[in-house]
Amino acid sequence: MLMVAVILLIAGSAAAQDKGWEVPAKAKAMKPTENLADKSVIADGKAVWYKHCKACHGSKGLGDGPKGAMLKADPGDFSSAKFQAQTDGTLYYKTITGKGEMPAYAKKITNEDDRWALVAYMRSLKK
Ligand code: HEC
Repeated sequence: MLMVAVILLIAGSAAAQDKGWEVPAKAKAMKPTENLADKSVIADGKAVWYKHCKACHGSKGLGDGPKGAMLKADPGDFSSAKFQAQTDGTLYYKTITGKGEMPAYAKKITNEDDRWALVAYMRSLKK
């Protein structure tokens, strides 16, 4: 019981520290090079998502991937209005820069179209 309480405490404080994710205004305003509503772009994004992101974020972005439960930070709910209220540029920026347990993909996903296709897939997860 004590162990559980200690783990919860640690997890809680890590989540509290991880609140802010500074996104530069320039990154926020970035415009996609792909049509994010295009079905084939979304399908491309899904393939990249399944390869790199699904393990933590889950197939639908609910944070329920097999690795998701082991994370200290909350990977978030990508179907939520709060997540979807962010700009396309913000989602792009967060994906390539990473933060804490979220890996940076700048070197792993170098193709610009693949990056925007991922944003298209994340948009398709909206409730
Ligand atoms: C090893 C687990 C892991 C993998 C793999 C991973 N993420 Fe994350 N992701 C996280 C965690 C944890 C957070 C929350 C980080 C924080 O706020 O401290 C996060 C946060 C995010 C956010 C910001 C969420 C928000 O609410 O604003 C985006 C966008 C994101 N991830 C996209 C991706 C994409 C796209 C991929 C694949 C290319 C990916 N992630 C792969 C763990 C992961």
